[in-house]
Amino acid sequence: MIQFFNVSKIYSPNIIALDDVSIKIDKGEFVFLVGPSGAGKTTFIRLLLREELPSRGQILIGGRSISRLRPREIPFLRRNIGVVFQDFRLLPDRTVAENVAFALEVLEMPRREIKPRVEKALARVGLTARAHFFPHQLSGGEQQRAAIARAIVNNPHILVADEPTGNLDPAIAREIMNIFLEINRMGTTVIIATHAWNIVNSLRKRVIALERGRLVRDDREGVYGYEA
Ligand SMILES: Nc1ncnc2c1ncn2[C@@H]1O[C@H](COP(=O)(O)OP(=O)(O)OP(=O)(O)O)[C@@H](O)[C@H]1O
Ligand SMILES: [Mg+2]
Repeated sequence: MIQFFNVSKIYSPNIIALDDVSIKIDKGEFVFLVGPSGAGKTTFIRLLLREELPSRGQILIGGRSISRLRPREIPFLRRNIGVVFQDFRLLPDRTVAENVAFALEVLEMPRREIKPRVEKALARVGLTARAHFFPHQLSGGEQQRAAIARAIVNNPHILVADEPTGNLDPAIAREIMNIFLEINRMGTTVIIATHAWNIVNSLRKRVIALERGRLVRDDREGVYGYEA
């Protein structure tokens, strides 16, 4: 479970990126994070990953305050949260399989354990046939599939994505969202910041809306709610 208690993030001198946000996200939920540009969506995600600390308030994951983690505990937090970005962020000089394996190599997992996990992750995103391709040989949608495989290969409890379909055409964006839905069906909590209004409107999942840093809406079967 993820809990924000009165979380604010203020960048100097006085940019209020998040303003007194309190929210609870249960294990296994699927959540869209929406709001105009500059509303605080990326800030919300960066706080969750502990890339930034709140200026005020508390963030609890699994009942533990992530601000209070000891430095050597931070890698354990990050291992439990997979992350996907708009621009894929694959290593250009490694194949798809090597990119996915790399996420486990840095954890010093033995080779014989890595191989089956990579194969399983690639199968889950439908990329088995492209395992030995380099990123530049893939379409945008395929690159994003590879990035999702990398994010889930360690079986994180939480998967976070910041505008994962922002660089993709609408049909491919739907395919990518379907992969996130499938991952969520297997029990992973999924949080997606997005401007993909048509997808949000058709799926009717929980929608959390931010505006100028404030939480303005939290609907169980929500809609995008802004002009496209
Ligand atoms: N490192 C930073 N230093 C100063 N200001 C920042 C920093 N990061 C974000 N901000 C500001 O905080 C506010 C929220 O930004 P954020 O990136 O969270 O918005 P967003 O909702 O993700 O927008 P977008 O939809 O354009 O990605 C903006 O006003 C932004 O300029
Ligand atoms: Mg953003």
